[in-house]
Amino acid sequence: MAGKSKIVYQCSQCGCESPKWMGKCPDCGEWNTMVEVLKEPVSLSGRAASSLSAKNISRPLGIQEITTEDEHRYHTGFSELDRVLGGGIVKGSLVLISGDPGIGKSTILLQICEHLGQNLNILYVSGEESARQIKLRAQRLGVDTPNLKILTETDVQYVVEQIRSEKPDLVMIDSIQTMNHTDLNSSPGSVTQVRECTNAMVRCAKSLDIPIIVVGHVNKDGAIAGPKVLEHIVDAVLYFEGDRQMTYRILRAVKNRYGSTNEIGVFDMGDHGLRQVENPSQAMLSGRPKNVSGSCVTAVMEGTRPLLAEIQGLATSSGFGTPRRMATGFDYNRMSLILAVLEKRAGYYFSNLDAFLNVVGGLRLDEPAVDLAVAIALISSLKDVPVREDTVVFGEIGLAGELRHISHADLRINEAARLGFTRCILPYHGFKNLEEKKFETMELIGARDIRSAFEAAT
Ligand code: TYD
Ligand code: MG
Repeated sequence: MAGKSKIVYQCSQCGCESPKWMGKCPDCGEWNTMVEVLKEPVSLSGRAASSLSAKNISRPLGIQEITTEDEHRYHTGFSELDRVLGGGIVKGSLVLISGDPGIGKSTILLQICEHLGQNLNILYVSGEESARQIKLRAQRLGVDTPNLKILTETDVQYVVEQIRSEKPDLVMIDSIQTMNHTDLNSSPGSVTQVRECTNAMVRCAKSLDIPIIVVGHVNKDGAIAGPKVLEHIVDAVLYFEGDRQMTYRILRAVKNRYGSTNEIGVFDMGDHGLRQVENPSQAMLSGRPKNVSGSCVTAVMEGTRPLLAEIQGLATSSGFGTPRRMATGFDYNRMSLILAVLEKRAGYYFSNLDAFLNVVGGLRLDEPAVDLAVAIALISSLKDVPVREDTVVFGEIGLAGELRHISHADLRINEAARLGFTRCILPYHGFKNLEEKKFETMELIGARDIRSAFEAAT
């Protein structure tokens, strides 16, 4: 079949291909997403890659021959962003920043230009906003470096030509979904277009040894549009999370070839753009109600960093036969499981009550160590007894109602002590070895079951 192009149907959400049109994608289950695409016999990436490899012929190298000395990292001026990137932007890397519309992707890119522009020439390619709009935003953010150049263009081949001629030290593409490869006949934003445009950017980054930061939109399920295809190609994927109504924004690395994932950076959106939050635990706890039932503070690990979070529970009598359950910032199924354990193993009955759970500050917690705080917040609301203000709680709950040991207990305790907490309730297992470590200002209480943990917390 070589040399002949054929028509296939491709899902615009996940990239699944089929020889026939279908109403529902067999892979991701989305309706009405299959679109007709003309499949080229030789992929564009293959053609360009072969011409590239003809220039620098590679040979196998011994691992000791390879030097890492010239790995240089550019600091962005935001230590929170640097940490998520693993210590700064690496030369020749392709970083994808993704998140809901309006979360602050364009804002953070423009803001880091001010610091990076002191030493580097930056090219900011925008397919979304006009140069005037960018200038107005830059003025508001106080970005005024002469080393920043703006290009409003959507043709990816032209952008690559410009990069090759301008030779900037750093390129930003906002966003990859607006970029268009004129050799392909599918519309911008489709899986094929996004993939080819990203490939073009990767080749550009690697061959010129400059870093490129790319903005990617997410679709309605929260995945990057034209999704997994992109994550494989790029070196690092950063997600912006958080409620658009709330001011806190959390930047999370989900893939990083140059550092650890699970690191987070916390930002606050204000009138002059994003500001990094150096003491996130304090920020998350600000405005905590005093002497109100249903609120409990816990300590979670975000990568290598402990973070305090407030969990709020509310149990009220239900107006309907089937009680409502709702969880924000916490897994719904995990909450149902905890409620079931509370009923069956600890004798707290929620079966005719609506139960709501909220993690304050727009955080999303998915660590099992949060279980005990969730349980205590809900019981506190059920009994209408407030949790003591000076108490922090953590521990995993097992199906038998037992409290299980969790990792990094000492880091969590130190963070809580730093913010003035004086009592800590944790699982009895593993509590013995901690006692020897002596936390001066912190009273440790080892709890064997949920009931005794709740009694100690109130
Ligand atoms: P933007 O960075 O354009 O989002 P994205 O590129 O991720 O779609 O959106 C920023 C949002 O934040 C926008 O809704 C307005 C708001 N904002 C501020 O509150 N303060 C500011 O200084 C700026 C620049 C934006
Ligand atoms: Mg934008």
